[in-house]
Formats: sequence, structure tokens, C-alpha cells
Amino acid sequence: MDLSVDIAGVRLRNPVLAASGTFGYGVEFEDIVNLAGLGGIVTKGLSREPMAGNPSPRLFETAAGMLNSVGLQNIGAAAFVSTRLPRLRQLGAVVIANVFGETVADYVAVIETLNAGEGIAAYELNASCPNTECGGMVFGADAKLLAELVAAAKRVSRRPLIVKLSPNVASIAEVARAAEGAGADALSLVNTFLGLAIDPETRRFRFARRMAGLSGPAIKPLALRLVYEARQAVQLPLLGIGGIATGQDAVEFMLAGASAVQVGTMNFWDPKATENVLRELERFCRRHGIEQARALTSALDSGPPTGGGTGA
Ligand SMILES: Cc1cc2nc3c(=O)[nH]c(=O)nc-3n(C[C@H](O)[C@H](O)[C@H](O)COP(=O)(O)O)c2cc1C
Repeated sequence: MDLSVDIAGVRLRNPVLAASGTFGYGVEFEDIVNLAGLGGIVTKGLSREPMAGNPSPRLFETAAGMLNSVGLQNIGAAAFVSTRLPRLRQLGAVVIANVFGETVADYVAVIETLNAGEGIAAYELNASCPNTECGGMVFGADAKLLAELVAAAKRVSRRPLIVKLSPNVASIAEVARAAEGAGADALSLVNTFLGLAIDPETRRFRFARRMAGLSGPAIKPLALRLVYEARQAVQLPLLGIGGIATGQDAVEFMLAGASAVQVGTMNFWDPKATENVLRELERFCRRHGIEQARALTSALDSGPPTGGGTGA
């Protein structure tokens, strides 16, 4: 069976990757997961300078999901290149470096630093960050801001550029088209949904920053809808993300139009979650006589709706 897929000129051995911020720098998992067997790993977000992240508490479990306010803690792009990347190369992992900043210049500086590192397959631009030069407006929430960011990143990038979209927008089609028009090579979607948690006993917010990002199975139908809508809007390859917990979930995202998927929050539940999704996807393909996994992308049947089941 051929599980390989092509994303923006990058050949992946299969379509199941670990999502940013849920799999560390990858090396933490080397004794538990065969990193070379995954489609790839997306590093946690890398910034220009090391960042300490938000104060604790940072995680709060919700019904079928999780809120996080980690605040993009990381060692910085330069330290990643010198201390983590060499090991990832030895292990044979396909590495996608997730990039973020507070200004366009920050993103550009991170990409320039990463350009010098050997063994990165592509960049993933986290567009869910506030732009401190525009009153904190999130890059990915405004088509014009997003297009400026993508164009600037594309100019300096020596590698394919995947743009990761925020779901906290009125029209995913509009931001997807803006990213495509500005030169993105692929899109990944979605990042976390803005949520809020209040402690009824103390009447206080649960997080210092009040709002936090919701992820996990709770967001799967929302994310699936956004992938499907983006598929109608752009030609670019899509990486589907949001609550993927099983091989069947991965198949649903591929049918909705994704060429590959990323597994996030479920890695907190089980560090082998990404590997398990891959095995289940493989079994699904075998059971259905699918010889090439890439044939699942957008292969929806337009027959009458089936209903039934619990959807769990
Ligand atoms: C604790 C945590 C940290 C995250 N950090 C990042 C990050 O640094 N950059 C990024 O683009 N997305 C980050 N994400 C978003 C995930 O990569 C993913 O898009 C999101 O959680 C939805 O997928 P899931 O439901 O499978 O977790 C983070 C998510 C979580 C839960």
C-alpha cells in the first residue's frame, strides 16, 4: 500500500503528522515513538528570542477537550537549530518548523535563522498571533494583515511555506484566499478556538489571560467544516487539524479535502496517539481496498446522507 503524499513539493511517507505545541521539539518522544515512521513532526512554535510563556495555570480540561494558555514558551529559533535539529536529522524525522512573532520583522528574522539549519522540510507560519504593531489584531484574523505577513515570509523563505490559519474568523474562505494570493505553498487548519473558563466556586477566571485556546475532540466537527470550506475556496494542498483521535477521523479530514492531517491534543492523552492514528488509517485503507492513501483526498460521495451512529 502506498501511503505517501506530496505537500508543496515535500514528499511525506504518509499523511499523519504530529501538530505544533503538542509534541515538543520531537526529540522528547524519541524513546516512545518511531519519529521516522510518522509523516512528519511540526515543532512547537519558534520565536526570535527564547520565551518563558504564560504564568501557570496553563491547561484546563473541558468536556471532550482542553483549554490552553501556554503562551508559546520556547527556546528560540537559534537554539532549536543548534541543539535539537541535529538529533532530529539523525533520527530521520521529517521536520516542519513552526514559526511565530509579534511583528512581520520577527517572523522574517525567525525564518532567516532557520534557513541556515540543515534538515528542515518546510516552515509552518502560525498566523494566530497578535500583531503588536497593529493594536494586537491577530495576523490571521484580517486578510490584508495576513497577506502582508505571508508575502514577507515568502520573500525570505528557502523552504516551502505552509500557512496555519486561525479558526477565529468570520470567513475562512477569505483568509485562505489571501494566503494563497500572497504566495503560500500550502495551508494548515485549524489552530485553537478562543474559549473562556470560569471557576464557579471562586467566581474567578481560570487563566491569567482570561481567554484560552480550545482543542481536542470537542472541536472536530468545527474544524472539519472549516477544512471543507477552505477546500472550496483555494487550490492549495491542505493539512487538516482539530480533534483528530482515530484513523477514521483522519479519513474524514481527507475526504473533506485535506492531503494530510496533524494530531495535536491527543498526544497529551497518549504519546503514541499520532502513531496510532497512522496505524488505524493504514488498516482503514486495507479494509476498503484503497491502494493509495492520497486517493482519499476530496473523494466524497455525493449520494444521500447516511445519518446514524453517534459520531463519537
Ligand atoms: C498546548 C498546546 C500548544 C500549542 N502550541 C502551538 C504552537 O506553538 N503553534 C501552533 O501553530 N499551534 C499550536 N497549538 C495548536 C495545535 O497545533 C492544533 O492546531 C490545535 O490544538 C488543534 O488540534 P487538536 O485538537 O488536535 O489539538 C497548540 C495546541 C496546544 C493544545
